Amino acid sequence: MGNGRVSHVLARQYDRLSERLERGIGGPQLRTTLVGDLTGRVVEIGAGTGRNLPYYTKADHVVAVEPSAGMRAQVAGKLVNTVPTVELVDATGEHLPFPDGEFDAAVAFLLLCVVDDLDAVLTEIRRVLKPGGKLSFFEHVRDDGRRGRAQDLAAPLLRRVQFGCRPNRPSVERMEALGFDVRLSDPVRLSPKPPLSGPYYSGTAIRL
Ligand SMILES: C[S@@+](CC[C@H](N)C(=O)[O-])C[C@H]1O[C@@H](n2cnc3c(N)ncnc32)[C@H](O)[C@@H]1O
Repeated sequence: MGNGRVSHVLARQYDRLSERLERGIGGPQLRTTLVGDLTGRVVEIGAGTGRNLPYYTKADHVVAVEPSAGMRAQVAGKLVNTVPTVELVDATGEHLPFPDGEFDAAVAFLLLCVVDDLDAVLTEIRRVLKPGGKLSFFEHVRDDGRRGRAQDLAAPLLRRVQFGCRPNRPSVERMEALGFDVRLSDPVRLSPKPPLSGPYYSGTAIRL
């Protein structure tokens, strides 16, 4: 698979794999912290199987953008009992089909490592946010020093075997360069620690 869009086969396994990965970090608590306080109109890019949807308890309306048909097919069951209204949209983060300033908040959860064009996605997120709007994210980024160099070397191979995930994305630096004021959590420690991806951070990036 050339890009980060997920096949039907993986989409059916995604929730199980994801639960295992999140066991060590308190996935439900992390998702509550990231999206539970968002209000107004919210767009989530790369919403996957909709694992965040049950946690949007204060939003008025959530638009879940997901380009993989297999992942969108898994969302259905999670729309039951969600408080706000949810709209599922087939699009990519590089080309968001929304007007400028449409949203109060945006969400990226393990998205920026898989998109084809990081700068294009961040530019689009910034465009569709209102001034002062918030991008709430959980992502892993390129490490410093020797581990960062190992991530650079391993990236082409990992990208092929890990569903398009690049371990060496400078996502926080690019947010700052493209017009966001970024606040990071302490690194989120996964257990077991993935050998070549991370550090992982949650955080907020305010659209300047
Ligand atoms: C690691 S999954 C994360 C799913 C979800 N955010 C979660 O919390 O479980 C990454 C998702 O991003 C989607 N994706 C890949 N490339 C994308 C792009 N260019 N624009 C938007 N979504 C993309 C994939 O199809 C996949 O569903």
